[in-house]
Amino acid sequence: MTKILAFTNNKGGTGKSTLCCNSAHLVARTGARVLIIDMTSQTTCSTLFLGQANTLTEADTVLAFLKKKPDRHIEELIYESEKGLDVVPSHVSMAEAVSQLSAMQMGKEGVLRRELERVKHLYDFIFIDSPGDLNELTANALIPADRVFIPTRLNRTDFQCTETTIRFIREAEEFIGTRTIRVIVNMLDDRYLPGGIWESSHTGELFKQAQQIFGDVLSSVTIPDSADIRTAFDRGLTVSEYRPNELAAKRILELVNCEVLGG
Ligand SMILES: Nc1ncnc2c1ncn2[C@@H]1O[C@H](COP(=O)(O)OP(=O)(O)OP(=O)(O)O)[C@@H](O)[C@H]1O
Ligand SMILES: [Mg+2]
Repeated sequence: MTKILAFTNNKGGTGKSTLCCNSAHLVARTGARVLIIDMTSQTTCSTLFLGQANTLTEADTVLAFLKKKPDRHIEELIYESEKGLDVVPSHVSMAEAVSQLSAMQMGKEGVLRRELERVKHLYDFIFIDSPGDLNELTANALIPADRVFIPTRLNRTDFQCTETTIRFIREAEEFIGTRTIRVIVNMLDDRYLPGGIWESSHTGELFKQAQQIFGDVLSSVTIPDSADIRTAFDRGLTVSEYRPNELAAKRILELVNCEVLGG
């Protein structure tokens, strides 16, 4: 059965797109059939996997079906990446999709789910990247997902937004059924973790608070702050292609093994 994973957080810049791209690529490397749906105006996943994604017109992207009457259906908008997975790209003007969806009277949150019904049998895993906002695009990403990944950094604002995001999902569960939620601490040096030399620092204390606040939904895998992740992206690579033996790549592999392939 196809596993559908959404990356979300009501806060921008927490690492949704980075973890979505890097983990999707590792899953594809196991031989699984992987599709990424990019729902963001940053087009991060589209650019990484398709190169010049920003040269696509609106009609060549998710914008073609995120509306009342689709101009094209999803199967016409799937592009094959040289990195061994497929992508439905987004467009810089995703704000237009938000207003088109908002204007719909009925079923506006279920547009992506209906489109996925047409193609999901072709894939083992579908990764959905969503914007740093709780809007119609986020709702469309959450509805078809079985599992929701919420990356957060270790600061109060990110925690609050992460809690708001979890509440948003839990409230929706009354109508859409249960989702597995995993909060992933991103951009954290291991020395702040329990047992590390900076355990008692402010950041170390924040990690302990995260354990209390998020409890069972907090992933045991943390992702380090790594220049390799940024450099890899700038070079059009995932971190596993760029520096496969460094910590960041190893941790993302651990994340994939624990939270995507396992569990
Ligand atoms: N673990 C990490 N180490 C170093 N840099 C990181 C890490 N994770 C993400 N980044 C960098 O942080 C920035 C924001 O990451 P990313 O675009 O993945 O966040 P996002 O949550 O998708 O943001 P948005 O809400 O704008 O879509 C990018 O420049 C990315 O390269
Ligand atoms: Mg993003």
